[in-house]
Amino acid sequence: PRSIFFSRHGESQYNVEGKIGGDSLLSERGLRYARALPALITDNIGDAALTVWTSTLQRTIQTAEYLPYPKLTWKSLDELDAGVCDGMTYEEIEKAYPEDFANRDEDKFNYRYRGGESYRDVVVRLEPVIMELERQENILIIGHQAILRCLYAYFHDLPQADLPYIKIPLHTVIKLTPKAYGCDEERYTLPI
Ligand code: F6P
Repeated sequence: PRSIFFSRHGESQYNVEGKIGGDSLLSERGLRYARALPALITDNIGDAALTVWTSTLQRTIQTAEYLPYPKLTWKSLDELDAGVCDGMTYEEIEKAYPEDFANRDEDKFNYRYRGGESYRDVVVRLEPVIMELERQENILIIGHQAILRCLYAYFHDLPQADLPYIKIPLHTVIKLTPKAYGCDEERYTLPI
């Protein structure tokens, strides 16, 4: 059976600073994840074929750097666009846009950042990615928190309202193996 692997990029400089969005590079810890990831994947799939999909952002491309597989970048896999809040911490957002901050808490799935996107928008832009995923064999997606929440919810058929709260930790590979109904799941965390 074919498998779909999901991983967030390694810890980025913005992750360390608590800032959202942006296009920062990996931290030292994130780089260690990038270097450890190939062994985890090859131990798991042996010599089976695999294709790695990343977004166009540096932190996913850097995380995929040492993986010995063909790679494809998708603009549609870029992180949820936080518009005017891009590059801010949650604290800064709460201070600058208190109403927006409250509205997001109220309905996180539908809340659209000023000049940016909502989770609902992301679900729509991921449709072509999902279509292609359904046709492919083994795929590893090196993605972002919001993006992987949407893809994970699709494969597990989870309700939209719960989707923005799904836990997709850093430095963890989620392996989904689709069955006739639903998916089997395994998680592997690299202690780095
Ligand atoms: O903090 C990392 C990050 O990927 C941000 O770039 C993004 O805005 C955020 O997570 C999405 O998570 P949430 O929807 O919970 O704010």
